[in-house]
Amino acid sequence: MAASIVKRVSRVKKLNVSHISARYKLLTGSRHFSTSKQWNKALVLGVYENESTDSIDFTGTARKFDEKADGKISQLLLTVKKPLKCGKTRTLHAVDPEFSSVLVTCIGKRGEGYDELETVDKGRESIRAAVAKAVLQLRELGENEIEVDSCGDTEASAEGCHLALFSYDDLKAEKSRKPAVRISCATRYSQDKNSMEKEWRKGAILAEGQNLSRRLMEMPANLLTPTKFAEIVKEQLADKCEVLVRDKDWAESMKMGSFLSVARGSVEPPVFLEIEYKGRQSDSPLALVGKGVTFDTGGISIKPSQGMDAMRGDMGGAACVAGSLLSVSKLQLPVHVKAFIPLCENMPSGSATKPGDVVTAMNGKTIQVDNTDAEGRLILADALCYSEQFNPSLILDMATLTGAIDVALGAGAAGVFTNSENMWNKLQKASVRSGDRVWRMPLFNHYTKKITECQLADLNNIGGSRSGGACTAAAFLKEFVNNKNWLHLDIAGVMSNSGDVAYLGKGMSGRPTRTVIEFINLMSKETNN
Ligand code: BES
Ligand code: ZN
Ligand code: ZN
Repeated sequence: MAASIVKRVSRVKKLNVSHISARYKLLTGSRHFSTSKQWNKALVLGVYENESTDSIDFTGTARKFDEKADGKISQLLLTVKKPLKCGKTRTLHAVDPEFSSVLVTCIGKRGEGYDELETVDKGRESIRAAVAKAVLQLRELGENEIEVDSCGDTEASAEGCHLALFSYDDLKAEKSRKPAVRISCATRYSQDKNSMEKEWRKGAILAEGQNLSRRLMEMPANLLTPTKFAEIVKEQLADKCEVLVRDKDWAESMKMGSFLSVARGSVEPPVFLEIEYKGRQSDSPLALVGKGVTFDTGGISIKPSQGMDAMRGDMGGAACVAGSLLSVSKLQLPVHVKAFIPLCENMPSGSATKPGDVVTAMNGKTIQVDNTDAEGRLILADALCYSEQFNPSLILDMATLTGAIDVALGAGAAGVFTNSENMWNKLQKASVRSGDRVWRMPLFNHYTKKITECQLADLNNIGGSRSGGACTAAAFLKEFVNNKNWLHLDIAGVMSNSGDVAYLGKGMSGRPTRTVIEFINLMSKETNN
């Protein structure tokens, strides 16, 4: 069926923001370096938590550096009686002619791993947090070339520093921006430099994907319109993926009445992005779907003005899909992925959908829109229907869908609704490794009843009361999915970081990009994807 669909690719309109876009740096947050720059080199070394006041429990790399410095590092650390605790650092100067600073960071207890109650690999999380703190402190000291200890898990170490050094200050004056820092892995004493470099690169690419998600989420909505989102995705992915930019006429021809009912309140034209990454031949791709509301005012059911600026991040699902695809393609994972991203603004206007209006989705189901602020499910309904046409082996959607999931889980985990135990197990496994957690939520019929009780249409877009809001939203989406391997991730609670995740600065989080990449990596090891 897919082949019979006429592909109409719209021209991406150039927006007149060139004076600003010249300053955008869309990749990792590491900036361009001038060759005439003065390099101030620093080194980050890891130590394990250790009660002893007369010995230091160094990582393998740190021990070699200490030996090379004739034990000066351990001597200096032992001059004070209090041993380093997890997450604490000591900065030493003039211990090695090559480095102006040597920062020792404590990565927690030796041998720490999976913690069942926390459902996370604590060892990896501690490394990410410890190196993150280290590189930020060194940047404050004016160091701009930092060699980092692999700390026994090179990938986690690379993730920690690349995520920590991200900052979105593209729109600020040069002098107010964070200085550029070059980071590399301290491989010189490694037995197998090549595999260490490979692991480091993998960690850096995982972080790069999440950093792209963060940047897209953070961008103000006047600059990141649906059209601009499509333009950036093309710029970032076009060399590795096929990117199709569908316009409003295309969506009309596909009978996406639910998606279009949200877009109609805005003067910004909607865009439907379809992206394909073919890391292998297969007839059943893995489908990703992302909510791309570039700004959510609530529409006619308008939101209160306080904190509304955060709704520029309401395309977080779309951003995480783009970020995941960036990493998956850079890692050249042997997997076939198709992504579907409906993009629009949710605005109140004379042409906006009104409460009580009835719209028809692509699968013919009619929807009474009783609250125009429950718009995410409306745009996803059509995107999910459309994704089913490609015979996907699984469908994973991500959406900043409900305030209710934030009430339930806060920033502790993304809420996951799935009809497959197997998919749930795989996703959870991925999240233990990434440290970006998920928590399973119910898809009971109980919630379906709430959205099928409707006066004028087949479905109501709100569940009547506020109770179980994230669950009724998921039950609504379920009406548009037939696939037996469906996962819906409600990521509204993890949309931004206010200090909970130590290695992510404050602001839009790009969560759970790395979990999804890891999940796709796990799935690439299965036969049919
Ligand atoms: N985009 C919001 C959900 C959201 C809230 C995202 C907070 C990020 C942070 C969504 O479109 C919305 O407004 N949902 C409503 C649904 C309600 C009207 C049934 C909500 O959660 O209040
Ligand atoms: Zn809304
Ligand atoms: Zn929304």
